[in-house]
Amino acid sequence: MVKLSKLAAAAALCAIGGLAAAGEVEVLHYWTSGGEAKSVAELKKIMQAKGHTWKDFAVAGGGGDSAMTVLKSRVVSGNAPSAAQVKGPAIQEWAGEGVLANMDAVAKAEKWDAVLPKVVADVMKYKGNYVAAPVNVHRVNWMWGSAEAMKKAGIATMPKTWDEFFVDAEKLKAAGLIPVAHGGQNWQDFTTFESVVLGVGGPKFYQEAMVKLDPKALSSDTMKKSFETFRKIKSYTDPAAPGRDWNLATTMLIQGKAGFQLMGDWAKGEFLAAGKAPGKDFMCAAAPGTGNAFTFNVDSFILFKLKDANAQKAQADLAAAIMGTEFQEVFNLNKGSIPVRLGMKMDKFDDCGKQSAKDFVDSAKSGGLVPSIAHGMAIAPAVEGAIKDVVSQFWNDDKITVADAMKRIATAAK
Ligand code: BGC
Repeated sequence: MVKLSKLAAAAALCAIGGLAAAGEVEVLHYWTSGGEAKSVAELKKIMQAKGHTWKDFAVAGGGGDSAMTVLKSRVVSGNAPSAAQVKGPAIQEWAGEGVLANMDAVAKAEKWDAVLPKVVADVMKYKGNYVAAPVNVHRVNWMWGSAEAMKKAGIATMPKTWDEFFVDAEKLKAAGLIPVAHGGQNWQDFTTFESVVLGVGGPKFYQEAMVKLDPKALSSDTMKKSFETFRKIKSYTDPAAPGRDWNLATTMLIQGKAGFQLMGDWAKGEFLAAGKAPGKDFMCAAAPGTGNAFTFNVDSFILFKLKDANAQKAQADLAAAIMGTEFQEVFNLNKGSIPVRLGMKMDKFDDCGKQSAKDFVDSAKSGGLVPSIAHGMAIAPAVEGAIKDVVSQFWNDDKITVADAMKRIATAAK
């Protein structure tokens, strides 16, 4: 039996090897949670069906900080992968190093300019040439609810304002549950923080304070209120939060141990991978006060310059697959995000997905569409890191006053 299956595997390998211009793609990503792994497996399948070999280069760690460190050392030592999960302004920084490939040929053949929103296409280009391929649109300003926990606490609907939120948090606490499931990395703290700023101040204030880092906005009463609200949320988390991964926080909702989680819609991928249904086992709603806004986070892959012709062909096929309709649908159904490609049908998506697609379009018209800072969409990585640190220090140390935190964030923004 063993021998036979080995033989079959060898035969399959030969068959693959015999295909024209089959190559290897080595893909660096940080999609290692249950829902994420299921999603990226779809890309692997598509590439294998084209006859290429998929070399997985997964670096665990939500938000990708560890992955970025590993990527840097690989590129510095002249050993870049074919593609790496990098997004936002960091794409420009990588392109500026001269290590990315010009993907214009595939972009032209696949008509990327016509099927991508211009704002997204611009982020994927360096000096007018495509150097990256976008995967999806994640919405960051979501709040998730555990149906079981909410029922136990007597909460009928998701809170719409921060005031309602704190009333519900008290109810969850009284029912012996953890009101807010939270984890322990600075990007998780900032994911909550930016939703608070958006909810307290609205999209215009968010743009001033978080995107433009305007000193007046950063020292305003609205910022003060944001920090106060943020600290109050902390008091509803459990002592085991530090160091916890985001997906383990989602598991606390799945198990009915915690009520709410403020997290982007990759959390939905986690609920789905656990066999849970939206509207029944878990609830999705815009984070309190942010119903008219949409914090976007576009995952994408940068593509490195490669020498080997077969590897280049495989890389071009990877880029085409990422933007293809088949992948855009199946990946995003699993990942919790929505397709970035325009004109995709949403009929297979659940109500959270449909809501996201609608709010994406509506908020773009109303001025409520804003980039996520926590997920690297708007400001240079170095400044982003500095303001994230301030927010996490404040979150973790109750001795730091609001006034202090406001001074520190203004300094970090410079
Ligand atoms: C990425 C998502 C990922 C999440 C958790 C975000 O920054 O955009 O794709 O699922 O981090 O790792």
